[in-house]
Amino acid sequence: MTTGTDNPTAHGSGNAATDKFKKNRVSADTSRERANAIYKDLLGAIGDVARKHEVTYDEYRVVKQWMIDVGEYGEWPLWLDVFLEHDIEEINYNRHAYTGTKGSIEGPYYVPDAPELPSHCEMPMRDKDKAATPLIFRGQVTDIDGNGLAGAHLELWHADEDGYYSQFAPDIPEWNLRGTIVADEEGRYEIKTLQPAPYMIPHDGPTGWFVESYGGHPWRPAHLHLRVTHPGYREITTQLYFKGGKWIENDVATAVKPELLLDPKTEGDNNVVDYSFALDKED
Ligand code: DHB
Ligand code: FE
Repeated sequence: MTTGTDNPTAHGSGNAATDKFKKNRVSADTSRERANAIYKDLLGAIGDVARKHEVTYDEYRVVKQWMIDVGEYGEWPLWLDVFLEHDIEEINYNRHAYTGTKGSIEGPYYVPDAPELPSHCEMPMRDKDKAATPLIFRGQVTDIDGNGLAGAHLELWHADEDGYYSQFAPDIPEWNLRGTIVADEEGRYEIKTLQPAPYMIPHDGPTGWFVESYGGHPWRPAHLHLRVTHPGYREITTQLYFKGGKWIENDVATAVKPELLLDPKTEGDNNVVDYSFALDKED
């Protein structure tokens, strides 16, 4: 497995993700009763696993050390988004009778307020990025009856051809491969970007040790991240993958869905793909 020499370390990208997350103090309107029920079930479930496997004192101490390390490396956003977020996403999708485009995990690398770009645009990229295969991504944002939503916003962010995200790895311009595309009056867009590569979660810190300890691999299939919004409609946070791509069948983050697979066609020097988004009305 080659990782290149200037790979961002777990420490670097982990700390950047933790710092970004900490900037917003989050809260939830969870009642004391609900908190109590969740807490009891959670501790009960952990106790059941410990009993089932007769966890030893050495194993208990290793877990304690590992949790301390995850915090010190700033890797909690990474670990949680890889191993837990897909369940949270599914639970909250199933709460409603949605029929629009499926969502997927946000992951740790979303940054709000990316600069606006017109409906037909090229993503901000370096000359080096232009050496990768160009990807033309086009389609329409509609309601669930297929009516175009004028001026819908598509926030797009993805890794470069080496698997690095701007603002989370060194020496990449701030908004590289990030933008808020404003769809046209019919909700259409045509975005020129680059074909991303599979992404390896930082593996040189405690998340990597965890994956290694159970004989797993640290890879996610190549993906585009999108958040699609229009006033009055359910916001969709999702990811799009590439049919037949490496790691599609065994994404470390368990976030691939069949509805989210792109199948680009080669046209000259470009890969070209149509994908449209149908937004449910807000409840
Ligand atoms: C992680 C990275 C991603 O790009 C993603 O989509 C999900 C998780 C991670 O490193 O934790
Ligand atoms: Fe990602």
